[in-house]
Amino acid sequence: MEMALVISASLVGLTLVLLSFPEHGSLNRVLDGTSGTVYLGSALVNEALHRATELTDAAYAHTRERVKKSWSESSLRSIDLLAQFKQIETSTRTQIQAAELLDNTVELIREMVYTNTMKQPNPYELLGEQDMENLLQVSGCATDVHTPTCQTDCLSERYRSITGECNNRQHPKWGAANIPYSRWLPPEYEDVWGMPRGWDPKHKYNNFSLPPVRLVSQEVLFTHNSNISEDSTLSHMLVDWGQWIDHDLVLTPQSPSTVTFKTGADCTHTCSRNTPCFPIQIPLSDPRNGVQSCMPFFRSAPSCSPGDLPHRHREQLNAITSYIDANMVYGSSAEQALALRNQSSPFGAMAVNLQHSDQDLPLMPFLPRLRAHLDPCGPRNSTTTGALDRSQLQENITSCFQAGDSRVNEHLGLIALHTVFLREHNRLVRELHHLNPHWSPDTLYQEARKIIGAMQQILTWEHYLPRVLGERVMSRLMPPYHGYHPGVDPSIANTFATAAFRFAHVTVQPVVTRLGPGYTYNSEYPPLPLHQSLFASWRVTQEGGIDPVLRGLLLSPAKLQTPGQMMVEELTERLFQAQGGMPLDLGALNLQRGRDHGIPGYSSWRRFCELSAPNTTSELAEILGNFTLAHKFQLLYGTPHNIDVWVGAISEPALPGGRVGPLLSCLLARQFRALRDGDRFWWERKGVFSKSQKEQLRTVSLSRIICDNSHITRVPVDPFSRTERPEDMLACSHPLIPHLDLSPWKEPDTDPSCGPIPRIQSGYSILCNSVIFYQCHSGFKLVGSSSISCDPKSQQWSSSPPACHDINECEELISPCPQNLECFNTASSFICSGQFSSFYKMFNAHDYSNLEHFILRSRVLWTLCCLHRLCSDSGDWGRGHGGDDSDLLPKVKH
Ligand code: HEM
Repeated sequence: MEMALVISASLVGLTLVLLSFPEHGSLNRVLDGTSGTVYLGSALVNEALHRATELTDAAYAHTRERVKKSWSESSLRSIDLLAQFKQIETSTRTQIQAAELLDNTVELIREMVYTNTMKQPNPYELLGEQDMENLLQVSGCATDVHTPTCQTDCLSERYRSITGECNNRQHPKWGAANIPYSRWLPPEYEDVWGMPRGWDPKHKYNNFSLPPVRLVSQEVLFTHNSNISEDSTLSHMLVDWGQWIDHDLVLTPQSPSTVTFKTGADCTHTCSRNTPCFPIQIPLSDPRNGVQSCMPFFRSAPSCSPGDLPHRHREQLNAITSYIDANMVYGSSAEQALALRNQSSPFGAMAVNLQHSDQDLPLMPFLPRLRAHLDPCGPRNSTTTGALDRSQLQENITSCFQAGDSRVNEHLGLIALHTVFLREHNRLVRELHHLNPHWSPDTLYQEARKIIGAMQQILTWEHYLPRVLGERVMSRLMPPYHGYHPGVDPSIANTFATAAFRFAHVTVQPVVTRLGPGYTYNSEYPPLPLHQSLFASWRVTQEGGIDPVLRGLLLSPAKLQTPGQMMVEELTERLFQAQGGMPLDLGALNLQRGRDHGIPGYSSWRRFCELSAPNTTSELAEILGNFTLAHKFQLLYGTPHNIDVWVGAISEPALPGGRVGPLLSCLLARQFRALRDGDRFWWERKGVFSKSQKEQLRTVSLSRIICDNSHITRVPVDPFSRTERPEDMLACSHPLIPHLDLSPWKEPDTDPSCGPIPRIQSGYSILCNSVIFYQCHSGFKLVGSSSISCDPKSQQWSSSPPACHDINECEELISPCPQNLECFNTASSFICSGQFSSFYKMFNAHDYSNLEHFILRSRVLWTLCCLHRLCSDSGDWGRGHGGDDSDLLPKVKH
């Protein structure tokens, strides 16, 4: 209430300011229709900016309070889970806040002009270039539009950047994280700037208003859990692989505010449409009617998209890299990538869980708990974290896992895939280290990351897409690879994120099958209704780890999409059903999201794909091969042109051998082709991998990866095809489940021209295009040149290799030891005399949290651990330590 008063006061304030400014004259000219290039003037723009800052900050503060309250009162709602699902990185948040401030300022200007003139101006026409420049600067949008500087050294050419920047040299931001989606067709918002379609329920499109999305969901999508048909040839692993890859490609953030900017009304309690609230109306006929009249929906956040004045319009952004690069494992920002690594690992390993393991195999680390309140990934029926063990409570963590993508906890299948690839990374780095002991932790990490990225590309192109598109479409729309095309923009298209790649929502089963060894029923982890597997990460630590889930995915079939059996009740009626509150409806969310993004209707996309655009019910019935469905659409939408593209596209019958119809085939193939041809680091591109490495990569199979990273001993040859009986699974040792032989990754010990490659003591080296780069171990400094190259003419190295000299820390100006302790230099480290007895005191309580604290803060202890070979023996010290602290005490004790 107070908030609303502040806001209306600020609007009144702005009116007064507006009237008192000399530039007000320009408004009169707008009113007269003689505006031409009349600008509002900086003073007014500054004032609007000032007010918008107040409103935006107030909305964020209000949201923070609301979320804090609902978490502390243990009243986490489904909408809070959706927000948790779309958690974003600081860099994305900063950009969104800048964009929202800019948009709110412009909106305020538009409203003020309208209030005073009763005309709807294009606010961008009223802003001078300098004003716009100032607005971009002050809002923070200017920094966002900058072009990154790309490194050109050999190693930057070898490994992709974590943000996706500089993949394309001419357009360094193409495909990078935090850029707007590309548009294949211009948006069709309700106004020219970005008002969602259906914002005004009476607004007419082709003479018909759009039906409420929940009505479409009820009438067209809703399918009883029991009324489904099984796919006769495809497994549920294929469905989950689709979502896994989706999380490599697309993450659309929503506004960090859950209250309206203008009035401060809480989006979770209002039915009025006011940015960022775009609530979903519950129709009278809906069984949910009477419980609540609206389902909350937050608009996707705007980006600082440049868009030339005066044609600027709202664009949504992709918070992750577009490329298939395994960013769901590694993250899409440098900070995130670092946080996910075990920074003390000499192998470049990823961090693993310190509290729990899965029968000795690692799990992902837990997310820290911001406040000691509710655990979104804990057991549902408990309002406290009673089911968690004491160490978790003490250490302020949740049972939510932490990965490169915030959606990791969304359901058990995703957690299982995330865990498998985390383990695969740590398996690869150890093998690579064995082959190349001179590689630094960074090199090992990057090489493993490169292999894991290639695995995603291979499994998706060779195994997944042919089954989704069908072999015929695949060969027609996805011709063999012919090399990198720098002119192809691989950025994700808005329609792909919002409609096309959501096709698989209608292939999800209502039950999550979990199976014991031998693929048999096990009462310790029985099958679960889907909604009980959402945000239920605790089940991994307490109900048998990831093996039961993986077995279930391998043995259970996908749901078959048919015109009368679209989306299961678990998704339309129980999505993110938390304690109390109204569950969400995934079908309605998909439709509303498309309207929020201004995605044109079904016919426009048919035309875009050079397919016939239906005008009548009978034409639509012919395309859909189903008159009943076409008639339903006619009743709901009035005309085929208005059908929301997602629901129209999934209604088309699948093409032979595939699981999608002609429109989806066109849209999916177009995006995936751009992702392949526009990726400078595509695995098949010449020079990215050597010939022998490529030969090995061609043998990659998901079944092998599962064998190597779980306790499962029998797998199908093809995990995406349906396996009917456990007896049809093969032993992991079977030759049809080939091992990835990493020997082609062994770096040569000699250069063809210059002979043996000089290695160094106490340091690392890496060979890159006949140049050797050197780096010293921690505690040593490099003396000499950090790289040497081979001159093929003289057949000599450019110089002798550098040396790594021990750093005498005790001679540094500021003593590294605490006061009153004497410093003694040692090889690679130093000793503070008298310190060990205090260390001993610290650790004799078997207290890992103290230990970690010291590892992070003090190189002394870390170096000592290394000296005593604890780090290399256990392999995963630091965050990833899985060892027993009893090793430590006698060795630290002096
Ligand atoms: C249990 C299974 C799944 C659940 C519960 C689920 C849930 C969701 C939810 C809640 C959203 C956000 C909706 C919105 O606010 O707009 C979403 C978006 C999306 N889903 Fe799914 N999904 C599932 C499976 C899949 C599968 C199998 C695929 C693809 C093969 C897929 C592709 C997508 C895509 C592309 C988006 C848009 C992402 C974005 O723009 O950030 N999903 N899904």
